Amino acid sequence: MKNSNRRWVLAAHPKGLPKETDWRLEEEPVPDPGDGEMLVRSIYLSVDPYMRGRVSDAKNYAAGVQIGEVMHGGGVGEVVRSNLDGFRPGDIVESMRFHWQEFATLKAAGTRKVDPSIAPIHTALSCLGMPGLTAYFAMETIGKPQAGETVLVSAASGAVGQVVGQIAKLRGCRAVAVAGSAEKLAWCKEIGYDAGINYKTAGDIGAAVAEACAQGVDIYFDNTGGEIHDAAMDNLALHARIIICGMVSRAAEFDAPDIGERQMRKLLVARARMEGFLVLDHMERTPEALAELAGWYNGGQLKFREDIVAGIENVPTALLRLFSGENFGKQLVKVGEEVT
Ligand SMILES: NC(=O)c1ccc[n+]([C@@H]2O[C@H](COP(=O)([O-])OP(=O)(O)OC[C@H]3O[C@@H](n4cnc5c(N)ncnc54)[C@H](OP(=O)(O)O)[C@@H]3O)[C@@H](O)[C@H]2O)c1
Repeated sequence: MKNSNRRWVLAAHPKGLPKETDWRLEEEPVPDPGDGEMLVRSIYLSVDPYMRGRVSDAKNYAAGVQIGEVMHGGGVGEVVRSNLDGFRPGDIVESMRFHWQEFATLKAAGTRKVDPSIAPIHTALSCLGMPGLTAYFAMETIGKPQAGETVLVSAASGAVGQVVGQIAKLRGCRAVAVAGSAEKLAWCKEIGYDAGINYKTAGDIGAAVAEACAQGVDIYFDNTGGEIHDAAMDNLALHARIIICGMVSRAAEFDAPDIGERQMRKLLVARARMEGFLVLDHMERTPEALAELAGWYNGGQLKFREDIVAGIENVPTALLRLFSGENFGKQLVKVGEEVT
């Protein structure tokens, strides 16, 4: 085992879009696990759009990362040493507290054992992990899809969006993807989306949504905010549900209010319901959600694409790919060898 731990610490609170120099790669001795802790070796690290908020000094739903502190983030890896009942060396675990580093000390709370015989271990960070759970719980608790309804999804080829579209289809809905390239829309079609809109080439996005959703939008799954949100609001069906899941299009203006026609009158006219969603509020139901998602995945009803870059030195670069749309599928970083 290596005796040093490379880790990315926050060097500056970004202004506008983050850049690589907002983090600094440091090396320290591998930490010792204390009583009630285990030492884990990172194999895959997750980079996610929410991290834009985590490095801001503005108020958010979770505490921000301080300058000089290791960057927060989820990961999956192998237990190396354990002072905990129920976790043994060789076990594969997932936690939101791996952070951007090669080794971490974890407690049992917030750590989930991953069974490598069910699916490849990196799916614990993608369709069988936080993004998949986001799609599942948001659709179940706010979207409540009914057969025959139209579901419009922004960032549809991404980690959350891929699963949303397929859940919509499994529930008998029509699914319409919004994504930023022809290749991404082709993938959306392959996994079951009925129609697609390239928001970069569509011109009038509202008109494109009106054409693709002729009966109106019953569920808008908003991963982006901005112009696509406005286009959905212009096309609401009666009793539409709008899930505010994320605002990735606003990453460069994180601290400024979103713009556009957010007229509440549109909610009134459509008697629609708009609700913010946070996956962390639903984690106690993870086992039942994962059982259903894993059943679909292993039954071939849930297809999923990941985009894996290699090397701990590339973690900040991988995060930035989410804001330019370079990622195609769930962005992960492989930082260690899998257990064979
Ligand atoms: N509320 C929660 O609990 C929760 C949990 C997980 C994720 N989320 C949110 O869900 C959203 C999707 O996250 P994800 O992990 O699945 O990421 P992702 O979709 O895999 O990656 C981000 C994608 O956003 C799109 N994008 C970037 N800039 C854009 C812009 N200016 N306008 C429109 N689209 C843009 C890009 O795709 P294109 O090439 O198609 O533009 C990019 O690939 C994010 O807003 C995230 O914050 C929320």
